[in-house]
Amino acid sequence: MAQHVQGVIAPGKNEPVRVETIVIPDPGPGEAVVKIQACGVCHTDLHYKQGGINDEFPFLLGHEAAGVVESVGDGVTDVAPGDFVVLNWRAVCGQCRACLRGRPWYCFDTHNAKQKMTLLDGTELSPALGIGAFAEKTLVAAGQCTKVDPEVSPAVAGLLGCGVMAGIGAAINTGQVGRGDSVAVIGCGGVGDAAIAGARLAGAAKIIAVDIDDRKLETAKKMGATHTVNSRADDPVEAIRALTGGNGADVVIEAVGRPETYKQAFYARDLAGTVVLVGVPTPEMQLELPLLDVFGRGGSLKSSWYGDCLPSRDFPMLIDLHQQGRIDLGAFVTETIGLGDIEQAFGRMHDGDVLRSVVVF
Ligand SMILES: NC(=O)c1ccc[n+]([C@@H]2O[C@H](COP(=O)([O-])OP(=O)(O)OC[C@H]3O[C@@H](n4cnc5c(N)ncnc54)[C@H](O)[C@@H]3O)[C@@H](O)[C@H]2O)c1
Ligand SMILES: [Zn+2]
Ligand SMILES: [Zn+2]
Repeated sequence: MAQHVQGVIAPGKNEPVRVETIVIPDPGPGEAVVKIQACGVCHTDLHYKQGGINDEFPFLLGHEAAGVVESVGDGVTDVAPGDFVVLNWRAVCGQCRACLRGRPWYCFDTHNAKQKMTLLDGTELSPALGIGAFAEKTLVAAGQCTKVDPEVSPAVAGLLGCGVMAGIGAAINTGQVGRGDSVAVIGCGGVGDAAIAGARLAGAAKIIAVDIDDRKLETAKKMGATHTVNSRADDPVEAIRALTGGNGADVVIEAVGRPETYKQAFYARDLAGTVVLVGVPTPEMQLELPLLDVFGRGGSLKSSWYGDCLPSRDFPMLIDLHQQGRIDLGAFVTETIGLGDIEQAFGRMHDGDVLRSVVVF
């Protein structure tokens, strides 16, 4: 029998979000219903509300979530009712050309639930990133549920579902940061700070945080930055070079998503170094670079979707490292809020007051 729960929708472009009754169907084959315990507020939810992702309103927002599996449909064997899970937006297919080449983190055919969640009048909802977890319960593909140690707090575990994984993975998976490397991170929000924490975990010797907001640079130090640069006051390329013997950093991670910060990353990188773009640009943005510099400086220019993570491999591993005190995922939770507080939380995120507000149920 379909269930009625409370959830937060974005009804139309730039309209305030609101709490509505959501109809959740019983799980069909390969699907699961998950009782949500916590869900973080991500910049991507704000992009959805602003119409920056697509026009498929109304959206059921929320995608950085953890909870307990309530019921599963036919053929589901990897998770069972009662399992504590983190939701992911990369349920890999195992069949596409990326999966068959042994690179499932590039999977081109990831799964979401087939059935639709709706409003009471039958209006179909588009769940953010195929998840929609600003709701007491949500319907997902079973492969979107990754079992982790139930001892960890849901508010902390859920953050691995998007931004924190994207940042850590940008450093350790995409950037392949190694012991002794110098790393610079441009943009120190939730994603950039996670890249800093990931670089520390990987053994980077020097970690340079760049932001335009001194409050963000203070937090970046707590996450592992060894040096900070306020790029409103100082030229970040000159500053990063000065801090790396005049050479530039081995790996530069761009976590803003703008052409000017990408250019800074490009020129603040050592010869043969790596640039990782994890910030998400908007469609009208263009990049202009001398092709001779792209060639002459060598190395690699990479982009990182979801930190090139494989949820089944990376979520349990990072929860273990968190439990052992080797990475502090709890430091990303600035505040916990209720389902009715999301509009205000977007405002605080926009003003740079929080790393993550997390809705707890
Ligand atoms: N690639 C992925 O899979 C993925 C996943 C989640 C989020 N993201 C993207 O990562 C980016 C960052 O997300 P977030 O949640 O950390 O956002 P955020 O708003 O919390 O952080 C952005 C930070 O960039 C700083 N900043 C802004 N302009 C700057 C500039 N010109 N120079 C230096 N710093 C500047 C801000 O002060 C802020 O600290 C967004 O574009 C988001 O959409 C990507
Ligand atoms: Zn695939
Ligand atoms: Zn997100």
